[in-house]
Amino acid sequence: MICARPASGSVRRSTAPRADASPQDKAQASGALFGYLLGLVEHKERQPGDDLISRLLTERVAKGELSREEAAMNGMILLFAGHETTANMIGLGTLALLRHPDQAARIRDTDDPAVVANAVEELLRYLSIARDMIVRVATEDLTIGGQLIRAGEAVTVNLPAANRDTAFLDQPDTVDLGRNTRGHLAFGYGIHQCLGQNLARVELQVALPALLRRLPGLRLAVPLEDVKFRHDMSAYGVHELPAAW
Ligand code: HEM
Repeated sequence: MICARPASGSVRRSTAPRADASPQDKAQASGALFGYLLGLVEHKERQPGDDLISRLLTERVAKGELSREEAAMNGMILLFAGHETTANMIGLGTLALLRHPDQAARIRDTDDPAVVANAVEELLRYLSIARDMIVRVATEDLTIGGQLIRAGEAVTVNLPAANRDTAFLDQPDTVDLGRNTRGHLAFGYGIHQCLGQNLARVELQVALPALLRRLPGLRLAVPLEDVKFRHDMSAYGVHELPAAW
C-alpha cells in the first residue's frame, strides 16, 4: 500500500492472510471472514445493489446454480486471489520503479501501450509476488532433478526461483523493462494457472503509468532499509510504501 507524504498519512494492510499464522489461527480467521461474507450475501438478498454479490444472487443463486455459501466463497476467492495479489503488485511494482528511474521513464514517457504491456510482464517476473501458494500432488511416480517423488506426494513449486532461472533468461536478477520475458511463471502454469491474469495485467497497465504521469516527482520518503516488506504474508509486497512528490 502506498502512503503519502507530505500529504501524509499511513495506510496499512492489516486484513491480509499471514503466512506465519498457525493453522488454528488461519482457520479461525477464514471462518470469521466467511461468516462476514455470508452475512453480506444475506444482506444483499434483502437489499440488492449494483455489485458483484447482488449479481451472483440474481443471476446464479436464484436459478439454483450456486448456493448462498458458494456465493460467499466466491467473494472470499476474489478478495484474496483478486485483490490481495494485484494490490501488492502495484505497491511493490511502484517501489521497483522508484528504485530504477531509468526503467520508470520507459513506462512514463511512452504512448505505446505495447511498451507498457511488455514492461508489466517483466515486473511480474522480476517481483514474482506469489511465492508459496503453488502446491501440486503427483498422480504417478516421477523423478525431478534426481529426486524421486511418489504418486500421492505433495510438491510445492517456487515460482520466484523459476522466474530467476538462468536457463530461462540472462541476468535474471536485473529488471529490464525493455526485454521480452514471455513465458514467465508469475501466474503459475498448467490447468490451474491464474484465472484473473488478464484482469491483473490490465490493472497494472493502467495503474503504474497513471501514477508515474500524475506524480512525476514521486519518490521514496524513507531509506529503503526502513521499508517493511511482507516476508510474513502469503502475497509478497510491502506493508506500506511511504512516498513523497
Ligand atoms: C498480479 C496479480 C496476480 C498474480 C501475481 C496472481 C498469481 C496467481 C498464481 C501464481 C496462481 C496459482 C496458479 C497455479 O496454481 O498454477 C493464481 C491462481 C488464481 N488466481 Fe491469480 N494472480 C493475480 C491476480 C488475480 C486476479 C485479479 C484474480 C481474479 C479477479 C485472480 C484469480 C485467481 C484464481 C481464481 C486462481 C485459482 C485458479 C485455479 O486454481 O484454477 N488472480 N493466481
